[in-house]
Amino acid sequence: MDKFVTLTYEGKEIQLPLITGSEGESAIDISRLRAETGLITMDPGYANTGSCLSAITFMDGETGILRYRGIPVEQLAEQSTFKETVYLLINGRLPTRDEHTQFSIMLNDNSLVHTDLKAFFSNYPRGSHPMGILSSMVNAMKSFYPALDTMEEEINITMTRLLAKVRTMAAMSYKISRGHEIVLPRPDLTYCENFLNMMFDTPVKPYEMKREAVNALRVFWILHADHEQNCSTSSVRMVGSARVNLYAAISAGIAALWGPLHGGANQAVIEMLTKMENGSDSCAKVVERAKDKSDPFRLMGFGHRVYKTYDPRAKIMKKMCDELLESMQIDDPLLDRARELEEIALKDPYFIDHNLYPNVDFYSGIVLRAIGIPTNMFTVMFALGRLPGWIAQWRESTDDPLWKISRPRQIYTGAQKYDYVPMHAR
Ligand code: ACO
Repeated sequence: MDKFVTLTYEGKEIQLPLITGSEGESAIDISRLRAETGLITMDPGYANTGSCLSAITFMDGETGILRYRGIPVEQLAEQSTFKETVYLLINGRLPTRDEHTQFSIMLNDNSLVHTDLKAFFSNYPRGSHPMGILSSMVNAMKSFYPALDTMEEEINITMTRLLAKVRTMAAMSYKISRGHEIVLPRPDLTYCENFLNMMFDTPVKPYEMKREAVNALRVFWILHADHEQNCSTSSVRMVGSARVNLYAAISAGIAALWGPLHGGANQAVIEMLTKMENGSDSCAKVVERAKDKSDPFRLMGFGHRVYKTYDPRAKIMKKMCDELLESMQIDDPLLDRARELEEIALKDPYFIDHNLYPNVDFYSGIVLRAIGIPTNMFTVMFALGRLPGWIAQWRESTDDPLWKISRPRQIYTGAQKYDYVPMHAR
């Protein structure tokens, strides 16, 4: 039976339909609210606003649950490959063996990057952040790879190109930033192995592929693959809703992810821990600053809009971080600082009262350092992991019969009407 919520306004009762999801979460459908009452809703940061129906990712922030297409992320991190998880997110189910082979061939065939794209690096000011470059490059892909004849073909090839080429571009940007020769993708390597090889292989020192590093990258990417309607994904959906091409929508997602309150936090965590390690900030001072309302500083890698308990991704990341450093015999002093900081913060009444726990970014930087990724590439690594999620979410929105241009309203608080005063009279 259909359920409703009754709203009483100025003596009139309005019935607003209740929508219930497959895991029992409910929402009030307010799409007729303004037409019937003249009212709109106000929800800064959209903290209580559902922007779409989605069958891709389920998360429960109170109990710390994360599932892709119904499968717990813990199981995927344990048993799946990144490529398989990508397929799952985009196509809604795990691939058969044949589908997996076909997908691998498509990714391999599309993994080369137009050499003219190198110009991006030579023409960007030195020292530019790789996220800015990546966002521009992805946007430019539309000009390098013109549209195909049918929409279906176009969508499929665009998704494949993005998944295959952005990984190559990211490794290429690192090589060029070091002044080294570009290493091309190889058909005999897996998705994760190929990336590491393109990053670290050199003619004078062949890259020694370590099982632990490949596994760490696999888990890192799976954990970042989707996270429902977060800031960057919502940006992809919002920009996409204007019916721009997919490259432009993904470019917007990359730009949003760059921010330190979002994906940029993994870099910010390492910078914070480094300051602690070199003595410019003590652990106690960092915690005190984070609590001080007159100081804009926040404990990076802590807190989350949805999770009010330990982020399930952070749990897996922390465990993997410990195992990785131990098996690779790496002694990273930043891991000690992170553990110390977590221990103090989790006992502190401020963090307890505010439900602030480590998020995925708290330990991920230490994992990335261990596999040799430079700090300024951390957020790019996040972007590579999130790419399938953005694509899946964009695709879902294009299939939605209710797909409308995203266009929130506002409550105007500016000056009321007054007349223009000519310059001489001001
Ligand atoms: N350090 C100190 N205080 C914090 C932190 C933090 N990391 N996070 C939230 N708070 C406090 C706020 O000051 C606020 O306190 P108040 O209610 O006393 O004023 C309260 O907790 C709620 O904070 P909001 O900013 O309203 O929470 P919101 O859901 O908008 O923000 C966010 C979530 C942006 C992730 C926030 O927790 C934060 O800035 N964290 C640090 C940056 C970070 O790690 N970002 C990565 C997030 S995960 C991801 O995007 C992959």
